[in-house]
Amino acid sequence: MTQRHVPAAELHLHIEGTLEPELILALAARNGLTLPFPTLGELQAQYEFTDLQSFLNLYYANMAVLLTEADFADMTRAYLARASAGGVRHAEIMFDPQAHVARGVALSTAVNGIATALASSEADFGMSTKLIAAFLRDESEESALEILDALLAMDAPIAGIGLDSAEVGNPPSKFVRLYDRARAAGLHLIAHAGEEGPPSYVSDALDLLGAQRIDHGIRSMEDPELVRRLAAEQVPLTVCPLSNVRLRAVDTLADHPLAQMLAAGLNVCVNSDDPAYFGGHVDVNFAALNAEFGFDADTVATLAGNSIRSSFADADRKAALLGELHHWRTQQG
Ligand code: ADE
Ligand code: ZN
Repeated sequence: MTQRHVPAAELHLHIEGTLEPELILALAARNGLTLPFPTLGELQAQYEFTDLQSFLNLYYANMAVLLTEADFADMTRAYLARASAGGVRHAEIMFDPQAHVARGVALSTAVNGIATALASSEADFGMSTKLIAAFLRDESEESALEILDALLAMDAPIAGIGLDSAEVGNPPSKFVRLYDRARAAGLHLIAHAGEEGPPSYVSDALDLLGAQRIDHGIRSMEDPELVRRLAAEQVPLTVCPLSNVRLRAVDTLADHPLAQMLAAGLNVCVNSDDPAYFGGHVDVNFAALNAEFGFDADTVATLAGNSIRSSFADADRKAALLGELHHWRTQQG
């Protein structure tokens, strides 16, 4: 059987950003909530963004429909079904615990709901997964430490921590203690950097936080010395092309630096970030890149191979997925 979509890992995905407008309305109805934008048309009309903050405002507001474990589980299953249909074979999924606790939702409700869906992901969708707790960089480090401690105390099935939300003005240096504590707990460490923030946030995420991967990292291209370092160290950069267009980090897809990043020898891969908000999942990102840049099968295989090798999957799973990718490549001619 020929596989249409390249088998890949998705390493940069916010589960709350997979909530499609239709599911938002269905969960609101199930929970007896009245939304500020109560019809599909009114809600969809809000999906025009001028920058990261304009998106975050809607993203946090829409989370109001997530109240029960079943809500979190249904959202997660919908993502797994859609992503696996688009070729995603392994996903490392962020969630924003502080955003839920701040709304009065128990940490255990969010964790258990998501974890229940992930526990049957291999059986249901053939997809392996990891869960990553992302901390809101526009909140205090104290708040993040409290939530990290609560996650550790409840033995939440998290593989790592991340750093997201409003980047500019909230540098990595604010979260050194958080990352030290997570490292001591044996967790993997990732961080958003260089999406809207300057290249120095990328080097600081590496040097001050010990980040093993950088989410986005596109503004690294403004600093040739940093580009040389990222290439030499093969630091994984989880790039999200359609997200960058929709949040105006780049003017158009044609202006996106992914091709230059590849040419510079950077370890880049393709991800959807918040697919319900930015126009599509990993396969849609690949299709848009192929239409814009005419990537050949070798380039697509390089991007997918980078995603698999940069994942936190164990060596056997990586080898199996690289085997699938090799098979896909032989089918492309
Ligand atoms: N939270 C969800 N999506 C995000 C993004 N693209 N950047 C920062 N924080 C986010
Ligand atoms: Zn992100």
